Amino acid sequence: MLAIHICSFFTFYSFIAVYALPAVCMPTSSVHILYVALQSRGILTLSFDPSKSAQTSLEILDTNTDAGFMPGWLMDGGDKIYSISRTHFPTNASASGGVFSFQKHRAQYGEGGLPGVYRLELLSNVTSGGLGAVYCDVSRDGRTVGVANIDGSTVSVHPLSKKGIIGEASYLFKYNLSHPGPGTNGSQIQSNPHEAIFDPSGQYMFVNDRGADLIYVYHVDGPDNVTRISTVVMPPGTGPRHTTFRVFNSTRTFMYLVSELDNTVRVFTLDGVFNNRDREPTAHQASLNIMLRQTASTLAPGSSRTSPNDTFLASEVALSNDGKFAYVSNRATKTLTSDTLAIYSVHPNIGNDSAHLVYLGQNNTYGKIPRHFSVSPDAETRYVAVANEVSQNLVILERDPATGFMTGIKGNISFGTFDVTQNLGPAAVIWDRGYDCESEWAG
Ligand SMILES: *[C@@H]1O[C@H](CO)[C@@H](O)[C@H](O)[C@H]1NC(C)=O
Ligand SMILES: *[C@@H]1O[C@H](CO)[C@@H](O)[C@H](O)[C@H]1NC(C)=O
Ligand SMILES: *[C@@H]1O[C@H](CO)[C@@H](O)[C@H](O)[C@H]1NC(C)=O
Ligand SMILES: *[C@@H]1O[C@H](CO)[C@@H](O)[C@H](O)[C@H]1NC(C)=O
Ligand SMILES: *[C@@H]1O[C@H](CO)[C@@H](O)[C@H](O)[C@H]1NC(C)=O
Ligand SMILES: *[C@@H]1O[C@H](CO)[C@@H](O)[C@H](O)[C@H]1NC(C)=O
Ligand SMILES: *[C@@H]1O[C@H](CO)[C@@H](O)[C@H](O)[C@H]1NC(C)=O
Ligand SMILES: *[C@@H]1O[C@H](CO)[C@@H](O)[C@H](O)[C@H]1NC(C)=O
Ligand SMILES: *[C@@H]1O[C@H](CO)[C@@H](O)[C@H](O)[C@H]1NC(C)=O
Ligand SMILES: *[C@@H]1O[C@H](CO)[C@@H](O)[C@H](O)[C@H]1NC(C)=O
Repeated sequence: MLAIHICSFFTFYSFIAVYALPAVCMPTSSVHILYVALQSRGILTLSFDPSKSAQTSLEILDTNTDAGFMPGWLMDGGDKIYSISRTHFPTNASASGGVFSFQKHRAQYGEGGLPGVYRLELLSNVTSGGLGAVYCDVSRDGRTVGVANIDGSTVSVHPLSKKGIIGEASYLFKYNLSHPGPGTNGSQIQSNPHEAIFDPSGQYMFVNDRGADLIYVYHVDGPDNVTRISTVVMPPGTGPRHTTFRVFNSTRTFMYLVSELDNTVRVFTLDGVFNNRDREPTAHQASLNIMLRQTASTLAPGSSRTSPNDTFLASEVALSNDGKFAYVSNRATKTLTSDTLAIYSVHPNIGNDSAHLVYLGQNNTYGKIPRHFSVSPDAETRYVAVANEVSQNLVILERDPATGFMTGIKGNISFGTFDVTQNLGPAAVIWDRGYDCESEWAG
């Protein structure tokens, strides 16, 4: 409340008057802040002002170069940002990735009422214990960090302090492939953990192994107590990649898994979870029951899977904030035309598992190879930001909350020319969700 009041004050008063006032950490009601992991440069902080034209609404406020070699993933943690670097950590001689934490600093409005100081301050960095760090997540209690190293076939687990300092790994899990999978072009000749994500209850960590067609499930009780409790076996050539969750009630969560090689999104129920944050779990080693409910194509209506021949590589899955629509990004590797977002309506209560996700159609991402996208944090989910890796542009699409479809392009910023190496372009984009900045200024 206070923050919003001060924001509107800022827009009407001069720089000098503003300078004497306390800090504002919330973006104004209309201007959003986003962060982009740009592999060639570092972590960019951008403002998005939807009242401006699509070619001018996005502005780079800051470029942080402390994020290591080829930063490829970002996680918003309130007043902190977590990221990974692909390799060369701590020096070029190393074939390991790194995991990083940053403090957000932003406050004063600059001259002329423009966004002022927005910068990230490096808090910590440690080795991720494997080549090809691609993903990091922080458990809901803020104590544990998980990192997936896709080329080194490892997942590291780290302690995280209250001040955001990531410690050396408390676990380094190494995965082995018993035999190559059917995926072409080197996609299934070794274990390729693509994600290490915590469920909303914080009790479990899921590791999706694209190379092995497995999901490793861990019970997590702090960074020093992580135990593998089960392994979900996927059909050969699935290529499980990323997940998102939706809490249904205090004991059930829906899990949505996008698979890169068979181009599907699968719906699972997780029963026996403990989503009630008001109470401590009674039984620690809860009886987690994971059930596959639906397999839906990301390319068309129905449940058909593609053969794992690298023609399409689905990449990310997300739900609108009201849970009514789901989105999956498709990457077509054999054409130069714009890629797409598949759009589904979501029906968790229907009592018909095969109609949980209903394919509605698709929209263009207005760029090539959308490695990642994310939805804006407002209740209506007005916008979707897409990181098109090969065309090296960030696109903001406006969303119709009633239909789920995109109604227009509200932002488009280029970071470089077409790059088929996929080593330069934007690999991840997240929205700043705002935070209470009192702690930042309290020291
Ligand atoms: C890690 O952080 C330290 C400062 O704490 C910095 O000197 C070093 O260059 C960083 N390493 C990498 C690989 O970014
Ligand atoms: C490390 O490698 C990168 C990319 O290959 C190169 O640009 C950079 O100059 C190297 N740094 C050092 C200190 O050799
Ligand atoms: C993979 O092999 C290594 C070395 O033999 C072993 O330590 C590790 O436990 C194996 N990982 C799994 C998940 O079986
Ligand atoms: C194999 O993958 C690489 C990079 O991932 C890509 O550049 C190449 O075009 C792919 N080849 C085929 C035959 O799909
Ligand atoms: C949550 O929903 C599932 C499915 O409808 C149901 O079986 C379960 O009993 C519910 N849990 C609670 C605590 O209501
Ligand atoms: C580790 O977690 C298990 C399962 O939650 C629990 O039974 C055990 O007491 C924990 N151990 C420690 C040392 O906290
Ligand atoms: C890849 O598989 C799909 C079917 O899943 C097929 O339509 C397509 O022709 C195949 N492409 C290549 C290059 O083999
Ligand atoms: C369940 O949904 C599927 C897909 O929409 C539909 O084909 C099927 O008829 C439905 N089954 C029932 C019992 O309603
Ligand atoms: C999204 O798709 C719908 C349905 O085809 C279309 O009406 C709309 O113009 C598309 N939006 C954008 C931004 O292309
Ligand atoms: C986005 O911007 C790029 C270059 O700045 C341009 O080539 C492209 O046509 C734009 N796309 C749209 C949909 O406006």
